[in-house]
Amino acid sequence: MAQIIDGKGLAGKLQANLAKSVADMKETYGITPGLVVILVGDNPASQVYVRNKERSALAAGFLSETVRLPESTTDETLLKEVEKYNQDDRFHGILVQLPLPEHIDEQKVLLAISPEKDVDGFHPTNMGNLWSGNRVMVPCTPAGIMKMLEFYQVPLEGKTAVVVGRSNIVGKPMAHLLIEQNATVTLTHSKTQHLPEVCRTADILVVAIGRGHFVTKEFVKPGAVVIDVGMNRDETGKLIGDVKFDEVAEIASLITPVPGGVGPMTITMLLEQTYEAAMRSLSPKEE
Ligand code: GUN
Repeated sequence: MAQIIDGKGLAGKLQANLAKSVADMKETYGITPGLVVILVGDNPASQVYVRNKERSALAAGFLSETVRLPESTTDETLLKEVEKYNQDDRFHGILVQLPLPEHIDEQKVLLAISPEKDVDGFHPTNMGNLWSGNRVMVPCTPAGIMKMLEFYQVPLEGKTAVVVGRSNIVGKPMAHLLIEQNATVTLTHSKTQHLPEVCRTADILVVAIGRGHFVTKEFVKPGAVVIDVGMNRDETGKLIGDVKFDEVAEIASLITPVPGGVGPMTITMLLEQTYEAAMRSLSPKEE
């Protein structure tokens, strides 16, 4: 039976430490890290995520603001809002919750966020920096997964890692962070042939495909470490991961639960990156 990775517990410890650092920062430098989250429309999952982000930011002593805009918001209005916070020195992190409504040009919006405040790490400058080995802002979900693997002392060097899902938010940056730690990485997706077989080569299997209970024990090598990024609802409305937890937990060595695994770590990394952005704002870049 696998050991369960307690993402929630680890996130709680890290956020408590961060709250102390925030208090020190206020006392020493007189500044409070500020995070603004912009939510467009009324996607129910996004509303839950945004509320959790706000709650955690406040608990850690951050200045926290949430901007809620209607579904009908235009690109122009949203870009103006982003620009307002680019200029507002009280805020060190700006996060535009994804997905945006269909009619909004997502790339244009992500490009408008000042790279110094892009705590999601989605701006092309930050993505490019990550891929060229100069990481500054890293997408929070993969960053949180790396933290968990480190905390649970999962060896990565020379190991085989398989990532399922190639999104900009999770799969692509995840592959890169694993490569940086000298894992051998296969990045797979919905069109990959013989997916169960490929996944069975993995010492570390990261699943972010967005399909409830997609990964069964046929995808998993006995003793593998399994990280489940999925957040899906089953037909009864229950939150389920991309991995069929009960059967996979029987053969994995370590596994993340849903909820209580990856999700809380994502928020922790968001707060840590906002704190770091606030620290960097104290010593502006040299020209
Ligand atoms: N939607 C799902 N995950 C994320 C995330 O990490 N950041 C943002 N901005 N939107 C998301």
